[in-house]
Amino acid sequence: MLEIKNLKVGHDENVVMELPRLSLSSGEHCLILGASGSGKTTLLSTLSGLLAPLGGEILLEGHNFNDLHGSAMDEFRGRNIGIIYQTLHMVSALTVLENLLLAQYSAGLPQNSDKAVTLLEHLGIADKKDDKPETLSQGQQQRVAIARAAINSPKIIVGDEPTSALDDNACETVMDLLLKLAAASNASLVIATHDQRIKRHFHKQITLGCAQ
Ligand SMILES: Nc1ncnc2c1ncn2[C@@H]1O[C@H](COP(=O)(O)OP(=O)(O)OP(=O)(O)O)[C@@H](O)[C@H]1O
Ligand SMILES: [Mg+2]
Repeated sequence: MLEIKNLKVGHDENVVMELPRLSLSSGEHCLILGASGSGKTTLLSTLSGLLAPLGGEILLEGHNFNDLHGSAMDEFRGRNIGIIYQTLHMVSALTVLENLLLAQYSAGLPQNSDKAVTLLEHLGIADKKDDKPETLSQGQQQRVAIARAAINSPKIIVGDEPTSALDDNACETVMDLLLKLAAASNASLVIATHDQRIKRHFHKQITLGCAQ
């Protein structure tokens, strides 16, 4: 369950956008729409615990982000929040499988390669487990990013434009995978996008106004 109250997000002391209230029950998804510069990425970074709120509160499963600092926030994020960035954020010296094991380790969880391989199988890329991420196609890399976001069965999966660079078929596949993975751990998807193609999958939608 995600609960947001009187949230102000931004950089340094500059408030980019405000969200007075948002409540998502477990497994409920939300799409974040808005023009370029309206604050979608800033909001997602804040919901991911990577950027401190400038005001208000975020509670995930009853844990208030304002009470989580430094390594406690890092561990909480690793266990509860899966993040899919706009560009690939993998450790290039490690293989696909090693990147997933690192995500488990970083969250203070036991390294479970069976779970990682099963997830890669589910995503149709198990044959790439011993390859370096950059040697994969864009669509395959996207699925590795999804695997890394989902490996610790998070409570919320945050995605920044996860489908915008994909063709129609790959877009459908990725959306389908995200919905299935979220359902498997009763997680909420919070996706920011310009991509009109995925709107129909989301009952709850927020459109951010332009700040300037
Ligand atoms: N690291 C940063 N430091 C200072 N200001 C920033 C930083 N990142 C973004 N901003 C500012 O915050 C505002 C919102 O940016 P943000 O990246 O959240 O928009 P967005 O809705 O994700 O846009 P896009 O659709 O282009 O990705 C912009 O005015 C931007 O200049
Ligand atoms: Mg953005």
